[in-house]
Amino acid sequence: MSFPRCDQTVAWQALSGHFQAHGHKLDLRTLFADDPDRVARLSLDAPEMVADLSRGHWDVATRQHLLGLAAECGIEARRDAMLRGDAINQTEGRAVLHTALRAPRGQGPQSELVHGVLDRMFAFVDATLASGRFTDVVNIGIGGSDLGPQMVVPALDAFCAPGLNFHFVSNVDGQDLAAVLQKVKPATTLFIVASKTFTTQETMANAQAAKQWFLDAGGTDLATHFVATTTNVEAAAEFGVTTTFGFWDWVGGRYSLWSSIGLPIALALGSANFRALLDGAYAMDQHFAQAPLADNLPIQLGLLDVWYRNFKGYSSRCISPYHHGLRRLPAYLQQLVMESNGKCVDEAGEPLPYGTSEVVWGEPGTNGQHAFYQMLHQGTDTIPVEFILVKQPSYRNADALSPALKGLLAEQHRMLLANGLAQAQALMWGKSTAEAAGESAPTASKAMAPEAIARHRTFPGNRPSLTLLLDEVTPRSLGALIALHEHRTFVSGALWGINSFDQWGVELGKAMCKELLPRLGSGDVSGLDPATAAMIGRLA
Ligand code: F6P
Repeated sequence: MSFPRCDQTVAWQALSGHFQAHGHKLDLRTLFADDPDRVARLSLDAPEMVADLSRGHWDVATRQHLLGLAAECGIEARRDAMLRGDAINQTEGRAVLHTALRAPRGQGPQSELVHGVLDRMFAFVDATLASGRFTDVVNIGIGGSDLGPQMVVPALDAFCAPGLNFHFVSNVDGQDLAAVLQKVKPATTLFIVASKTFTTQETMANAQAAKQWFLDAGGTDLATHFVATTTNVEAAAEFGVTTTFGFWDWVGGRYSLWSSIGLPIALALGSANFRALLDGAYAMDQHFAQAPLADNLPIQLGLLDVWYRNFKGYSSRCISPYHHGLRRLPAYLQQLVMESNGKCVDEAGEPLPYGTSEVVWGEPGTNGQHAFYQMLHQGTDTIPVEFILVKQPSYRNADALSPALKGLLAEQHRMLLANGLAQAQALMWGKSTAEAAGESAPTASKAMAPEAIARHRTFPGNRPSLTLLLDEVTPRSLGALIALHEHRTFVSGALWGINSFDQWGVELGKAMCKELLPRLGSGDVSGLDPATAAMIGRLA
């Protein structure tokens, strides 16, 4: 199956023309003034959420051109190829089937394998929770074997069973592990060694150190206290683990939280809630597979990403979840988007003449407002902001709160929402110099002319954002939200004509590290470049 790259299409030429004629000068304030139905026209319903894309730097004509681009690039056929399990990850000769992990039993490819592991995992989770033998779970893994569970467990804190504490150790810096080991006891701790390959340096080093700590403390029942989640069952057995939950090479690391890599999530939430997470993702999969292009949220977002990156020249996007539980979502999305689409050659290995992955970054609101929002409002770059607003708050043990405290927290939730709404509004409307000049200014230096002060207090406005609105962060809605981002990443990657499912870019540094490691002991700098040699001279 072969489809043109985005820049080889007629639609791309049409988009370029549209950009030159109108697209470069879209102003949100004019767009809203000219189209009273803009919000309705550019809002979409998708499973578990509503998306308001009306504050984006696009209009109906842009969207039509982008839909033409999607059609010409064969996005539906590419999507279907992924969903049915074609080996679309060609550089590794693999299928890409994370969607199979959340399909109900008997549906989708590989169902028997998937549900076989899920059944074992759920039996383990149920028995472990019923036994009450553990107080702490330590997940040792990095990248895709860490970020998913590390993001989801706090996001769903309100759904977590009490009595079990979760710790995530990822960094090869021993400070990460040592801090956790201070807090846990060998007799009541379950270690999960999570690694697709079971060869990752950081994870293997941390797992060995944790094992040493366990044995030093007189721990004897290693098989009960260490389990593994991996595709490399043999290596796990060699490490001394007898309980292993497998997955398969057709699950990419950054797409693996739905597999046994999600074991910490299942332990935190219980099996039924883990199933609900999968169901939410499955609902989004169905939407992605079936909704017409114009109503398909992952497709719309992937198209918007291409428009922003390649025409509007926006090289980053800020994730701003107004929900404290989602505080690790930006970090999770960094790996998902940047490891998937940070590529400079197309599927055929040809250098790309346009930009690919944008930089993804962010912090939860309202914290971000007191850090980088200054730049978002008045900086020289335009950075699209993605607000996630949640109608209902969720707190652990909410029933135990006094009515008075509930009232205060409800007011705090309104503050949170008002802040999110206000930021989107301020980014769009801005404030003119005339408006700023009309305000009573705070005391400023007498040497400064009032007009100059007003210019400092001017907001250019016309800064784009989008808003995803969820009723509540539940296992189901979070599953849908994550799957939305997975598919959106696939869409922009497919339009760019890249393989979003390999990650060769992480290999060079790993190989060089292997070569340098013994030199830090020996001090041998022969054959090294001068900068590395000089630094080793200082360190060794
Ligand atoms: O960072 C590179 C990477 O290969 C990621 O793709 C992966 O999620 C991570 O390392 C961890 O790999 P593993 O699960 O094999 O330990």
